[in-house]
Order: sequence, then C-alpha cells, then structure tokens
Amino acid sequence: MNNELLTLKEVRHDARVQTYIAVANEQMKALGYTEHGHRHAGIVSSISRHILTTLGREPRQAELAAIAGYLHDIGCVINRVGHVEASAMMAYDILTKMGFPPEEIAVIIGAIGNHEEPMGEPISPESAAVIIADKSDVHSTRVQNPDHAKFDIHDRVNYAVQKSYLRVDEAEKTIRLELQVNTEVASVTEYFEIFVMRMVLCRRAADFLGCKFGLEINGVRL
Ligand SMILES: [Fe+2]
Ligand SMILES: [Fe+2]
Repeated sequence: MNNELLTLKEVRHDARVQTYIAVANEQMKALGYTEHGHRHAGIVSSISRHILTTLGREPRQAELAAIAGYLHDIGCVINRVGHVEASAMMAYDILTKMGFPPEEIAVIIGAIGNHEEPMGEPISPESAAVIIADKSDVHSTRVQNPDHAKFDIHDRVNYAVQKSYLRVDEAEKTIRLELQVNTEVASVTEYFEIFVMRMVLCRRAADFLGCKFGLEINGVRL
C-alpha cells in the first residue's frame, strides 16, 4: 500500500471529526437515543474493515469502508432526521479538505448515504460492509437513558444484549450475527420487531458480498 495514502488514523484524529461526533452523541443522549459517539463510530469502522479483510478484499477497499464506518453517523450533529444525507455531505467536505481524491470520496459518501433502511441499498462492497457493521452494534453499553422505567423498545433490546459477535467465514461464505440476549429484559419477539427491517437489509448486503447472512440468538440459528 502507498504510504502517502490517507487512512482512518488521520480521519479519526481530525479535530472536526472529533468534535462533531462527540457533539452528535450529546444530542442523541439529550433525545434519549442509544450511543452514537466515538464508541459506535469505532466499532462500526473496525467491523466494516474486518468484514472485507476476512473476505480477502483489497486493503484499500477495507480502509475506505473503515473510514465510511467511522463517519456514517456524524450528521447526527445536525439532526437525527436526515442524518444519512447530512453525514455524507459532512464527510464530503471534511475529506475534500483533508485532500482525499474524489474517486475515494465518492465511494465513502456513497457508503455513508446508503447505510440506513428503508432508503439505503448495498451499492458497493464498502456500503455492504458498513450496513452490516452498523446493524451489528447492538449492546447493553449503548443505552444512554438513565431511567430504566422509561426504557423504550430500542433501549430494552439493546440493554438485553450481553454479548454480540459478527462471525465472518470466508470459506463457508457466511456472515453471522451471534447474540447473547437476556430474555428477561427483552423478548426475542421484541428483538424481531425492531430488527426485521435491519436484518432484511443485512441479508441484501451479505448477498452483495457473495455471502449468506445469518442470525443466532442464544445459540439458536434463526
Ligand atoms: Fe445511522
Ligand atoms: Fe450507526
């Protein structure tokens, strides 16, 4: 790989990126939303890279997916509604100023602009990776609502997940989200109520990568 190419490291350390993601999460917290800050950005970024690397894709493709994964929710600093387009536009501006080539920016903003259902579609390997990585980040530590009595279904479903792991198997051509769920906190039915649309999108994204998508809850493959 050409050492002069900009990487996730430079993006992560950019002062604008640091500030906007931190403030975006403050806003999500104020709205009672689950965590959308540097933790979520970092996890989505590394899972995106992991998916493409494990499937034997080019390192630069995995790097662009990791950058898209890091920036995919940055637009929440403007508003949760419309954050997909806002994130893409903000990434366009930041990456242009950093000196990324337009061909790479095009791939990154396309991946960001397609990360959410119902409008998002896997349109590139990078976008497929970001979709699956984003939907994989369900965990109790994402819940920011301090009042358990006021938990909504999103809080309950996230709070119930004690362990989540995305298993990517290149030989089997499978991508499987394995969850350990406390069914006293949220029922599997509740999980489905929230995740059915997301899982459909994950399946399409996995298809795009030539893989089958699977979900496993408490050791049971669904
Ligand atoms: Fe999002
Ligand atoms: Fe996200």
